[in-house]
Amino acid sequence: MKIYLADYAGFCFGVERAINIVKEQSHIKDNVRTLGPIIHNPQVVKQFEDNGVLVERDAGKLDSSHSVVLRSHGITKSTYEKLKKNNVDIIDATCPFVNKAHEEAAKLSGDGYDVVVLGEADHPEVKGIVSYIKGKYHIISDEKDIENVDLDSKVGLIAQTTQDREVFNRVRKLLETRAKELKVVNTICNATNLRQHAAKKLAKSVDLMLVIGGKNSGNTTRLFKICRELCANTYHIETAGELTKDMFDNVENIGITAGASTPDFLIEEVLEYINEVNDAGEQS
Ligand code: F3S
Repeated sequence: MKIYLADYAGFCFGVERAINIVKEQSHIKDNVRTLGPIIHNPQVVKQFEDNGVLVERDAGKLDSSHSVVLRSHGITKSTYEKLKKNNVDIIDATCPFVNKAHEEAAKLSGDGYDVVVLGEADHPEVKGIVSYIKGKYHIISDEKDIENVDLDSKVGLIAQTTQDREVFNRVRKLLETRAKELKVVNTICNATNLRQHAAKKLAKSVDLMLVIGGKNSGNTTRLFKICRELCANTYHIETAGELTKDMFDNVENIGITAGASTPDFLIEEVLEYINEVNDAGEQS
């Protein structure tokens, strides 16, 4: 069996930066918390918890005795204000590209645009983005959702940073026919584009595609969906422990990709497992 790793897979710039900030802060400060899991990866979160960095989901429970690291996908404006009011030491690891989406959302609404946000309504990043919109907004998950939306004449379009660029372009095209004035700000980050493009290229040419990453990770789930459209034999796994030998029956070419919140050690464990299956096959 031949194994191909996607050109871009695993930690993106923003996640790596957030992880490094937590590591640094845990060495110099006591009572460090993350507001929600620092990334959508249970294995990494567990490692931090073992080293005393606990997850706090309720901002209201933090006070001046705590240092809190904000996750790469940011928080809402009102949560930020609450932390400030409670004198919590805020260490902001929000990805600069997410901050840019906040700024663009605020600018569009400030300029009187009815804002359409392509993204997952219940994702913290999207909650953060819409919290900066002062006027009307609509969260849509794809172009089909636009049909039921009552739009003003001035429409602004932005996206959650990890959305699929092709869906964004389809939404843009549809809005061009619906809005009198349309302003489009593509806030999808390049790391997402690169991962999705590399995954597509690979999924087209292999018999088995493995997408590694948290089941609760939006960007990993999107990679899985993209790959499954091109390779029916695609699996979304969190760890090598979910692999079984029979998955590799009659497989010659294996493609591997991983979400932006997947650490290298999980990719390496998968590679090790496949190499063991390969070696066993050659010896029998
Ligand atoms: Fe930032 Fe893009 Fe990663 S927005 S957190 S670099 S997926």
